[in-house]
Amino acid sequence: MKVLLTFGTRPEAIKMAPIIHEFARTIGVDARVCVTGQHKTMLDEVLKSFRIEPDYDLEVMTANQSLNEVFVRIVQRLDPVIGEFAPDVVLVQGDTTTSWAAAMAAFYRGVPVGHVEAGLRTGDLFSPWPEEANRRMTSVVATRHYAPTHTARKALLDEGHMPDTVKVTGNTVIDALLMVHERVTQDPTTRQALEQRFSWLAGNRKLILVTGHRRESFGAGFERMCSAIKAIAARDDVQVCYPVHLNPNVQEPVHRHLGNLDNVALIEPLDYEAFVFLMDRAHLILTDSGGVQEEAPSLGKPVLVMRETSERMEGVDAGVARLVTTDPRLIEAHVTELLDNPERYAAMATGKNPYGDGLASRRIVKDLLSWHRTRTASASSASAMSGSLPQPSSRLVGSA
Ligand code: UD1
Ligand code: UDP
Repeated sequence: MKVLLTFGTRPEAIKMAPIIHEFARTIGVDARVCVTGQHKTMLDEVLKSFRIEPDYDLEVMTANQSLNEVFVRIVQRLDPVIGEFAPDVVLVQGDTTTSWAAAMAAFYRGVPVGHVEAGLRTGDLFSPWPEEANRRMTSVVATRHYAPTHTARKALLDEGHMPDTVKVTGNTVIDALLMVHERVTQDPTTRQALEQRFSWLAGNRKLILVTGHRRESFGAGFERMCSAIKAIAARDDVQVCYPVHLNPNVQEPVHRHLGNLDNVALIEPLDYEAFVFLMDRAHLILTDSGGVQEEAPSLGKPVLVMRETSERMEGVDAGVARLVTTDPRLIEAHVTELLDNPERYAAMATGKNPYGDGLASRRIVKDLLSWHRTRTASASSASAMSGSLPQPSSRLVGSA
């Protein structure tokens, strides 16, 4: 089986990494990695952490890129890669412009698409924007749907996808997290290096880890989130650490509001090991990130989600996450409650995680192998019946 794994941003890379490693352990698969380079530095950090060397790099990133620029460049540069490699399946992850553009490029070439982390929905096309549209459109063209949870599977079935095309696998981010968390906590050299690197963290203050980057919050949303963080940082029992996303629409308001506060450390985006170390050290996490919402509960860290909607309500329903919007009064009230009320804090810091058990990648690879076997077998029996020679499963590739 020939598989092309395509991704381009930090979260996609983290979530594809365990699948790449699983394929590397599997006999009879030619699995190649094509990065679009929608992100650059932030993607390179993940590739380094997981020791992945891409076979193809489309290098599409430009400063402050527009969605259309990224989309067009990806389709244009990915098309010849699909043509040359002629994969049996193109695997995409999540809901970024890379995911949707790669799915579309494969679909137009007649190559089946496998969608990892399928079925996440808010029901609002503009929140998150443009991700809700990206993932819905990807579902339309995908052949195999890997749903992280039963809720995601139900959303796909409700949209009319056939039950045998949708598998509940857990989220591969948990596979990645468990892998790296073990290294960070159990490997003495890694642990010591990280302790040393973050020796400036105040031992006597509660660490509040912050991330934020969503497009629908650019402008007013970021102004509100920053003013909440500023108010929280006025307490002398906390320290805020915020690795700031490299998007200029994030950098500007964050540095303008929070740049000169003693209690707030604005740092560069972190490599995955360092970020996992900080999540582990944190008292609580304030974020609008999808991946962080899934990871924090596994580490027993309460997570407050600074968004109006979330496609990951499993954590909220399990009581380990709260949707606090971007209203500064609400954000501050929830943080204050968790800081001052040990019972409410303990109720959230349970370590219950609804997103996976660390075996998602294994399930995805197993399903793809069995899907490919069935497909190849039915293609050969069809050609035997018609008396013609068997065709490769991806024969549309060459003729596209
Ligand atoms: C993208 C995804 C979003 C995902 C997020 C993860 C889309 C539409 N958005 O948003 O779904 O949650 O990644 O972080 O696909 N930049 C750098 N270096 C980097 C990365 C980004 O300088 O390594 C800067 C560049 O100026 C770039 C800008 O950030 O143009 C925006 O990057 P882009 O990938 O378009 O959007 P994100 O906001 O990162
Ligand atoms: N992350 C990281 N370094 C950071 C911030 C986040 O490695 O400085 C990881 C985090 O653990 C999670 C992923 O990046 O796995 C989330 O990426 P992001 O928030 O950019 O995107 P989203 O998940 O919202 O699409």
